[in-house]
Amino acid sequence: MKLKDKVVVITGASQGLGKAVALKVAREGAKVVLVARTEKLLKEVKEKINKDRREAEYFVCDIRDSDAIKKTVKRIFEKFKTIDILVNNAGVWSDEELEINKPEGRKNVVETNALGHINFTYEILPYFKKRNRGYIFNVISTSGVGDIPDGNNAAWKSYGASKWAIAGFTKALRDELKGTKIKVTGFFPGGFESNLYANAGRKNPHNQPWMMKTEDVADVVLFAMTRPEDVLIEKIVVAKM
Ligand SMILES: NC(=O)c1ccc[n+]([C@@H]2O[C@H](COP(=O)([O-])OP(=O)(O)OC[C@H]3O[C@@H](n4cnc5c(N)ncnc54)[C@H](OP(=O)(O)O)[C@@H]3O)[C@@H](O)[C@H]2O)c1
Repeated sequence: MKLKDKVVVITGASQGLGKAVALKVAREGAKVVLVARTEKLLKEVKEKINKDRREAEYFVCDIRDSDAIKKTVKRIFEKFKTIDILVNNAGVWSDEELEINKPEGRKNVVETNALGHINFTYEILPYFKKRNRGYIFNVISTSGVGDIPDGNNAAWKSYGASKWAIAGFTKALRDELKGTKIKVTGFFPGGFESNLYANAGRKNPHNQPWMMKTEDVADVVLFAMTRPEDVLIEKIVVAKM
């Protein structure tokens, strides 16, 4: 699909992968809708895109709040009239050792990584169905891949639960939309450089040997989005060599 003039909504676009994808799709000529909680960072991304004479707007929204999602989607439609692609990317990490006595950390990962994506999708899905067109791209994680090897999962029990939840939703949604022209992709990256781990208070959150470059991961997202309309990539798993 050519992204020129397509309206691409990206949750978690204030930093990390969401920001990298936003900058890339803007360069392809898309109208980029940036969603996250931190206005200062969103504004910086918007200004960077606008400086390149590309179109972007930001909407401050906490995706754990279903009313806020409803209002945000309404405002997006008011401003852009249409939505072509939804990238459900916002996410938080919860480190089990740090969160062991903090149920709010576990609540946060499930509400953000699973329920937030589900609610955002439901707000836009009726429109996609009416048009019989649209693309839902769910950023999951290798921790949500069913066949991940044993012995590597202890640190991400709640995080993994949130990612398995959204992986299940992604699969079921694709089943529901079979026979329509609405695409659904599940994206399962391994670790990459971002503020995800620092934001969760993890020790040594940057420059680890197991981390891919954010740019490289964003390139894979762009590849999936720019396939022809009749080519569906159901699932992508990417990992560091
Ligand atoms: N980094 C990795 O190793 C890795 C590996 C596999 C999968 N992933 C997944 O990739 C996605 C992007 O993560 P990242 O690594 O780029 O992390 P990041 O740099 O921490 O970015 C996360 C983004 O999500 C937003 N966000 C968090 N909670 C939110 C909420 N309640 N409402 C709205 N926005 C919210 C953040 O913005 P605000 O704080 O401004 O709201 C930020 O823009 C996540 O789904 C993550 O689970 C990451």
